[in-house]
Amino acid sequence: MAPPVSLWAFALNLCIGVAHCYFSIPLKLYTGKFNLSADVDLTPLRRVALTADASGLSLASDPTGTVNFLDMVNNLQGDSGRGYYIEMSIGTPGQKLNILVDTGSSNFAVAAAPHPFITHYFNTALSSTYQSVGRSVAVRYTQGNWEGELGLDLVSIPKGPNGTIIINIAAILSSEGFFLPGVNWQGILGLAYPMLARPDSSVDPFFNSLVQQLRIPDIFSLQMCGAGLSASSTADPAGGSLIMGGAEPALYQGSVWYTPIIEEWYYQVEVLKLEVGDQNLNLDCREYNMDKAIVDSGTTLLRLPVNVFNAVVEAITRSSLIQEFSSGFWDGTKLACWLKGETPWRFFPKLSIYLRATNTSQSFRITILPQLYIQPIMDVDGTLDCFRFGVSSSANGLVIGATVMEGFYVVFDRAQRRLGFALSSCAVSDGVALSEIAGPFSAADVASDCSRGALKEPLMWVISYALMAVCALVLVILLLLLILPCRRRDHSGEITDESSLVRHRIK
Ligand SMILES: *[C@@H]1O[C@H](CO)[C@@H](O)[C@H](O)[C@H]1NC(C)=O
Ligand SMILES: *[C@@H]1O[C@H](CO)[C@@H](O)[C@H](O)[C@H]1NC(C)=O
Ligand SMILES: *[C@@H]1O[C@H](CO)[C@@H](O)[C@H](O)[C@H]1NC(C)=O
Repeated sequence: MAPPVSLWAFALNLCIGVAHCYFSIPLKLYTGKFNLSADVDLTPLRRVALTADASGLSLASDPTGTVNFLDMVNNLQGDSGRGYYIEMSIGTPGQKLNILVDTGSSNFAVAAAPHPFITHYFNTALSSTYQSVGRSVAVRYTQGNWEGELGLDLVSIPKGPNGTIIINIAAILSSEGFFLPGVNWQGILGLAYPMLARPDSSVDPFFNSLVQQLRIPDIFSLQMCGAGLSASSTADPAGGSLIMGGAEPALYQGSVWYTPIIEEWYYQVEVLKLEVGDQNLNLDCREYNMDKAIVDSGTTLLRLPVNVFNAVVEAITRSSLIQEFSSGFWDGTKLACWLKGETPWRFFPKLSIYLRATNTSQSFRITILPQLYIQPIMDVDGTLDCFRFGVSSSANGLVIGATVMEGFYVVFDRAQRRLGFALSSCAVSDGVALSEIAGPFSAADVASDCSRGALKEPLMWVISYALMAVCALVLVILLLLLILPCRRRDHSGEITDESSLVRHRIK
């Protein structure tokens, strides 16, 4: 019986594995632990400094004239490594908490109990307007998870649209690997669609409530200004802007290029092509969207499906002048270090992602310079400047995370079901832009639908349940196989029709 039993164990593992992979939300923040390697080379230093472009700052507002976007500029703090957060006032009287901005999930959740890594939490007992809904809720992310209870309360955003709204709050009572050492936020603002809300899509996400109650346009836009800054520096967080209700022209240059939102759950987009330097990776475009391609501010790195990741690493190795990199650099377990005053960026190529344009027979290209994906890490060693690789491999789809988003002003135009990309006014170093946008290009050379055939998460639920059912059935049959022959030996005269059926099958 050994082979069937191990087969069953394998099937069960598969089921659990599938469940584990596909039920998670891709929050993945850098935890700040690195191994040091000393690849030393000689190149002139070019420090990245943040230059906020204040010239041409114009007063902008939405068509209804009720929201002043300029009041929201610089309302974020943080960096790509530990996330970007906004201050909110929760409950009555208002309790001030910092809330992580995450476009890859849909729950508004705040710490409601002490935790060693956070300085304060939302005390529901001290809010006269807090109402428990009496339902428990749990969310699992790529990194970490939490459990708590659902409630309702009033929230206002000091540097957001005017007004107080009543919203669903998940009060986090216990968590694992969710709050990280050194983070300065105590909650998470999931800005994606109701489909991802837990326990189910009837729990209105924060932004849906905001749009309904304050009657602002169903658009928000995000500028994250940590480009090229150290991912582990404790000094002066870089900051950014979350503009609710529209887009602020002072935060970008040139025009906004739009790509359709393919499905409204995550912000899922369609990637048509990847280039390393001038070299097209030339993979089947479905590989780039396997099993989805999403834009997620709650993920630190650019994450690529394994095949794509391997092709990118190979192409970078080929085109960079540095051949002697330990594999630990590419898999994120090691840093590459140069003597202080040197910098490696000129050795690395640009990375370009082609996105489907709103005219579906066209595409446009967003490009990041190596300053965005070869990221300085501070405080490792006094004599070395160390860098990490800002790209990693992924088992659950392509994620355009902070590494890429920091180059762009990203407009989440939910009203017109599209995402806009423009050159961010803060992705500039010494007057040189760290990102590029170009287009339109013909999309005639790729399939007309690069996301078709990719398995969607709800479908994976169904498949995993089906697999579980098959596992259970196999278990029952195995038990019958094990038990019934014994019973037959014990009571040799009393073989039922069922057991003889089994017996004949064994023969
Ligand atoms: C550093 O590398 C060593 C050996 O490769 C490993 O044992 C150790 O766990 C690593 N440390 C971290 C923080 O990754
Ligand atoms: C909120 O209202 C004040 C006073 O009317 C106004 O000055 C401010 O611009 C408004 N803020 C926003 C974000 O619209
Ligand atoms: C879409 O792009 C194609 C190919 O470039 C062009 O021929 C067509 O006119 C465009 N359609 C619209 C509506 O702009």
